[in-house]
Amino acid sequence: MNAEGSKPIRIGLLGRGTVGAAFADLLAERGEAVAAATGRQAEVSGVLTRTEGDFDSILAGSDLIVELMGGTEPAREYVRAALQAGKPVVTANKQLLAQHGDELFAVAREAGVQLRFEAAVAAVIPIVRTIQEGFGVTEISKVFGIVNGTTNFILSEMAASGASYDDVLARAQELGYAEADPTDDVNGADAAAKMAILARLAFHTPVTLSEVAYEGIEGIQPDDLAYAKELGLSLKLLGVAERRDGGISVRVFPCFLYPGHPLAPIQGPFNAVMVEAPAITEVTMSGPGAGGLQTASAVLGDVVSILAGDAPVHETRVELPIVKDVGSSFYLHLEVDDRPGVLARVAAVLGDQEISVKSVVQRGTGEEARLVMVIHECLESRFSAAVDALGRLDDLRSAPRSIRVIQEEY
Ligand SMILES: NC(=O)c1ccc[n+]([C@@H]2O[C@H](COP(=O)([O-])OP(=O)(O)OC[C@H]3O[C@@H](n4cnc5c(N)ncnc54)[C@H](OP(=O)(O)O)[C@@H]3O)[C@@H](O)[C@H]2O)c1
Repeated sequence: MNAEGSKPIRIGLLGRGTVGAAFADLLAERGEAVAAATGRQAEVSGVLTRTEGDFDSILAGSDLIVELMGGTEPAREYVRAALQAGKPVVTANKQLLAQHGDELFAVAREAGVQLRFEAAVAAVIPIVRTIQEGFGVTEISKVFGIVNGTTNFILSEMAASGASYDDVLARAQELGYAEADPTDDVNGADAAAKMAILARLAFHTPVTLSEVAYEGIEGIQPDDLAYAKELGLSLKLLGVAERRDGGISVRVFPCFLYPGHPLAPIQGPFNAVMVEAPAITEVTMSGPGAGGLQTASAVLGDVVSILAGDAPVHETRVELPIVKDVGSSFYLHLEVDDRPGVLARVAAVLGDQEISVKSVVQRGTGEEARLVMVIHECLESRFSAAVDALGRLDDLRSAPRSIRVIQEEY
């Protein structure tokens, strides 16, 4: 830190949109509390937008940089330059860290300055500092949760109203819970970026966005939710990072949860994250996963931690392989012809892949006939081979539909 004595800490603010403007207001409003907590006043000394400010002079005139521009370039270049100049950086930019975390954390380590990013995952939920500080030496086995509020809102509304995905998406856009271009939220890419960051933190290993397998919610049909409701299941887009078979698996997928699961009651645009480890059993935290003020609050928390001299620079310590083929349970929905022997032919295909069925119901007759089943845990590669083979049966009126199921009892 270049500032000394009682001079105010000068904050260079890159981006003054939804979060940046809220941060500037919050810093002004909570100025006395910041000074009381850190012994230093803090003020915004320069602002960069597309039409205002010059990065080099903002950097020269600041002690700490807050990056709230979004995107990977020029954010990467600016964050790197700030760290190399010995200035700590706070960012809310998940794409930047999920794609260029290795490079930027290495620069921070070399320069001996902090790069903090609480707001990049689940906004105001303090999951980053909980893992880094509270569980810093705990052998975490799994970190998982609902890390995208847009999709949780859409799935909650579809389950409550029975409306179609397209109708509920349009409503989410009207209410401001979904962007005009919702692609990265609904296809799972946004959640994947957050899971790359959480996996790196939890397992002390480099994980980049390209290593996270993700699926979205675009294909979810109202009748999937209707059947699930009958069975008491709730549908969530989950991000899961876990130790598996000597490596780690990091994935995002829609998933049915049994009642009693701590994530099952999380409704609307809220996020929730669970951490599991033998030494802690499980911890669940939930709260708003977005919003200008809420995100700015997490950013300000990071600024205060830096000014107070808390916490070491995050570091990567071990190499763990990404395990791609893991075991999962599935819900399987087959629209079948209403004729004798169909169930036996379906069972034979599943049997060929050594897949066993936990429960099956036959619904409707004639044009409406369908088989809805829950499959016991099996390797995903076997399930996918079975689904391909089922798709080739003459008995099916449309392609099979499947959704993962978490059957653990809580
Ligand atoms: N919004 C949320 O609820 C939320 C939640 C969690 C994390 N985040 C993260 O917070 C960050 C900011 O999000 P936001 O919603 O505040 O974005 P935003 O409203 O779009 O604001 C972005 C700001 O950055 C500026 N900017 C963008 N590209 C720039 C460039 N190339 N050069 C200079 N200035 C540039 C924009 O300038 P102009 O004003 O000139 O356009 C604007 O002031 C993102 O990384 C986002 O992922 C947001």
